[in-house]
Amino acid sequence: MSATTWLGGERIEVAVCTSTNDLALERARAGAPHGTVVIADAQTAGRGRLGRTWASPPGRSLYLSAIVRAALPLARLAPLTLAVGVGACDAVRGEGVTAAALKWPNDLVVAGRKLGGILCEGAGDAAVVVGIGVNLNGSSGELPPEVAARATTIADELGRWVERAAFTDRLLAELEPWIDRFLAGGVPAIAAPWEARMAAELRLRVDRVGPAGQPVTGVALGLDRDGALRLRDDDGVVHRVHAGEITIV
Ligand code: BTN
Repeated sequence: MSATTWLGGERIEVAVCTSTNDLALERARAGAPHGTVVIADAQTAGRGRLGRTWASPPGRSLYLSAIVRAALPLARLAPLTLAVGVGACDAVRGEGVTAAALKWPNDLVVAGRKLGGILCEGAGDAAVVVGIGVNLNGSSGELPPEVAARATTIADELGRWVERAAFTDRLLAELEPWIDRFLAGGVPAIAAPWEARMAAELRLRVDRVGPAGQPVTGVALGLDRDGALRLRDDDGVVHRVHAGEITIV
């Protein structure tokens, strides 16, 4: 059992589903309690931000979604993602990947390679689903070619197998306090911890952020009060990034 108060009290484990977010959304609408967690061995339609596919082959990664019963307007889903990122980053670091860091808004990275991602989705007026994917075992080279070059796994980083059940317990234990802090205190409660884990060395290219909607390349400075990213471009101009495609250059 994990060292949590409410997160993962009820666990639904399945061999395969379209997406653990789908299953969690369905269970949330059917009244599943706060903290219910759904885990799958494989997903047939795993999804990520901006409608991307999340490659979800069986038995090698963690695909987990948690039901959080809170009335969060759409605008607070993005900053919840930041809070979840802090906990996920600490779980991965605790497993031994000490170089793990956060890339705004929802990526876990190691030296610019993606190790995991977070997708929060609304489930009606009073619940959200927090979906997390972490590449645990196997080599990134076994992932689909379009992601392999920019991905990594915990096993790649540590040179050893990672036990999914133990990592899940660690993850839930790290996540719970950050979700609680965010629900109680909003972005100010998690901004400094998020920035402390930010991959500050990365050069990022963001589409549609300039005054004429053009792409901008620069470095992340940190978060604005609402959780937007502050990005300094090569001319020293600081932009507020709310959305869009963010690529590591
Ligand atoms: C991203 O990086 O764009 C977010 C990826 C989120 C993937 C996880 S895997 C568990 C849950 N189920 C999904 O379909 N997506 C999330």
